[in-house]
Amino acid sequence: ETGVVTVDPGFMNTASCESEITYIDGDEGILRYRGYPIEQLAQRSSFLEVAYLLIHGELPSPTELDAFVERVNRHTLVHEDFRTFMGTFPRNAHPMAVMSSAVNALSTFYPESLDPFDPETVELATVLILAKTRTITSYLHRTAVGEPLLYPDYSRGYVEDFLRMTFAKPYEQYESDPTTVAALDKLLILHADHEQNCSTSTVRIVGSSHANLYASVAAGINALSGPLHGGANEAVLKMLTEIQAQGGDASDFMRRVKNKEQGVRLMGFGHRVYKNYDPRAAIVKKSADAVLQQLGKHDPLLDLAMNLEEIALSDEYFIERKLYPNVDFYTGLIYKAMGFSEQMFTPLFALGRMPGWIAQWREMMSDPTTKIGRPRQVYTGAVERDYVGVDAR
Ligand code: SDX
Repeated sequence: ETGVVTVDPGFMNTASCESEITYIDGDEGILRYRGYPIEQLAQRSSFLEVAYLLIHGELPSPTELDAFVERVNRHTLVHEDFRTFMGTFPRNAHPMAVMSSAVNALSTFYPESLDPFDPETVELATVLILAKTRTITSYLHRTAVGEPLLYPDYSRGYVEDFLRMTFAKPYEQYESDPTTVAALDKLLILHADHEQNCSTSTVRIVGSSHANLYASVAAGINALSGPLHGGANEAVLKMLTEIQAQGGDASDFMRRVKNKEQGVRLMGFGHRVYKNYDPRAAIVKKSADAVLQQLGKHDPLLDLAMNLEEIALSDEYFIERKLYPNVDFYTGLIYKAMGFSEQMFTPLFALGRMPGWIAQWREMMSDPTTKIGRPRQVYTGAVERDYVGVDAR
């Protein structure tokens, strides 16, 4: 009569899923894509090679890699009407809202790539979304700053031409900076997949209704935009900038975090799975200093970030809650040094996560036992009662 219902404990397990793509050990701080440690891939691989690995399950042969890179490159151009569509959003629109709309709209421009069960069509959608999200992401910056949308240059690599399409000025020769290209390629690798996080689970659950890849990924982009998830990299920069503007007192800020003052959270710290240092954060932190120095930029916010980390790693409050830096804590400082605005940080996260979302969606679609996502609930509302007419209330 109290409204409490008993629940078969087994139903809770439907919330988990099996996958062969990414392995995480949260206690040991381990992350592997298809068995390969993230540290080795970040050091030795390239973003498109990692995309191939996540999607196809094995590292490509030289011929396979060349064919994959060439096919992605060849599809980087978008329909002229799509460029017009990208220009119709308000200049000050948040790029994550534009990105999810644009990715969803791809299905209307490329209807021949929608069938989720035809292998050739799925392969085409895979290449189209990898190629065109690179163009879309560059256009997010260009439309925000009011600069013309550039066309791809197939003679350049994926990351190099993305940076050119984003930052090149129509009136000068663009020279790419190898440090920036290498650093961004590494950051995209680090973001490429992360098993069943909020946005990937969203991609899976939308796809489980047999929705096409674009619709599923667009939903994932929306999930990623939240400040507790991918939006955290933008929130970290806001947090560091505010602390700096108020005098840069890291200890005072950490006092406010521990007092749980309204709206005061150490963004870029903590994780649902990692109860140890996020291995990606360790790699980013190591390269942050080097990249900023190579770019000839010293950012006092990096010193502040390292100061906050130092305090957290020696303070019982954070230690007992197992709060360590996650992938979002240092990445924004590198993106900022590259010339990206804060609002572009999460679209860059999404660009990096594309191969993971594609791989996870394909794995689910190819599993004949997949059922439509429908988590069960524990009902705690009112017990049965009779309707009362409005005059009698
Ligand atoms: C990503 O899942 C993934 O894999 C995601 C991701 C990926 O690659 O896809 O890794 C990317 O989303 C990384 C996370 C980015 N988000 C942030 O940096 C936002 C700040 N972090 C949090 O809000 C929080 O840590 C979460 C959401 C990431 C994880 O939250 P949990 O594990 O559910 O922790 P919780 O909310 O249960 O908190 C446990 C305790 C609480 O204190 P008590 O109530 O026990 O006193 O830890 C505290 C929380 O208040 N806490 C924090 C904190 N995170 C947790 N306190 C201060 N600052 C924080 N950041």
